Amino acid sequence: MNLGKISVIGGTGDIGEALVKRFSLQNEVVIGSRDPTKAQDCAQKFSQEVLQSTGKSVQITGAGNTEAASAAEYVILAVPHAFALATAELISPYLSPSSILISPVVPMAKTPQGFVYVPVTSESGSESVAMALSRIVKVPVVAAFHTLPASRLGDVAVTPNFDVLICSDSNSALERVADLVKNTPNLRALTVGGLAMAQVVESLTPLILNVAIKNKLRNLSLKFV
Ligand SMILES: NC(=O)c1ccc[n+]([C@@H]2O[C@H](COP(=O)([O-])OP(=O)(O)OC[C@H]3O[C@@H](n4cnc5c(N)ncnc54)[C@H](OP(=O)(O)O)[C@@H]3O)[C@@H](O)[C@H]2O)c1
Repeated sequence: MNLGKISVIGGTGDIGEALVKRFSLQNEVVIGSRDPTKAQDCAQKFSQEVLQSTGKSVQITGAGNTEAASAAEYVILAVPHAFALATAELISPYLSPSSILISPVVPMAKTPQGFVYVPVTSESGSESVAMALSRIVKVPVVAAFHTLPASRLGDVAVTPNFDVLICSDSNSALERVADLVKNTPNLRALTVGGLAMAQVVESLTPLILNVAIKNKLRNLSLKFV
């Protein structure tokens, strides 16, 4: 089922590449970058890699971030947390009113003890990046994909078996993102709650990374059984 176009802002990066390749198997995908030429080069490269891995011709194009943001039903903000809010401010005027902004962004820091969650400081104390984004953009925000490891997700020759935790204050946006996840073989969407719950989900990524490092494991995710 084709659910409409998906744009990945920062689609040239690690999780961006993975999401672009995985979603291109079912949907048209636009890579957004600060540099349109870089986005177009990545689009060509990722399309060829998907073709080589699966034999499937896919539709991936590249554009500047604002053009990519205006082009899609689903806009995924796949940039490092330090730049997430400024990038959202930049693309916000270009988002179609019918689109959804999806945040996989994890605000975290590396300490000598390991990775720790560092929520966004706000007037009310601290909050998730997803909640902070919802104050910037006029479209519904959905927090999703935080616990998926880029390299396994992006290996389109295999079908990963991942749970995707999703949070939003908009039930219709939650349903649309759940449809996007379900449309991707072996990904399961699990609703956690409203954006007030996004802090809990965002804080799982440092946990996963610390377990991976301490136990010399790779490509870890969370699966609810
Ligand atoms: N890596 C993972 O496995 C993973 C998993 C789950 C969630 N996440 C989250 O997803 C987000 C992206 O992670 P990543 O590992 O893919 O990051 P990344 O590879 O370091 O960066 C992604 C993209 O962000 C853009 N970018 C870099 N600096 C920027 C700036 N100053 N302003 C605007 N855009 C900038 C770059 O795209 P252009 O140069 O093309 O503009 C870059 O390719 C993070 O918030 C992370 O917490 C990552």
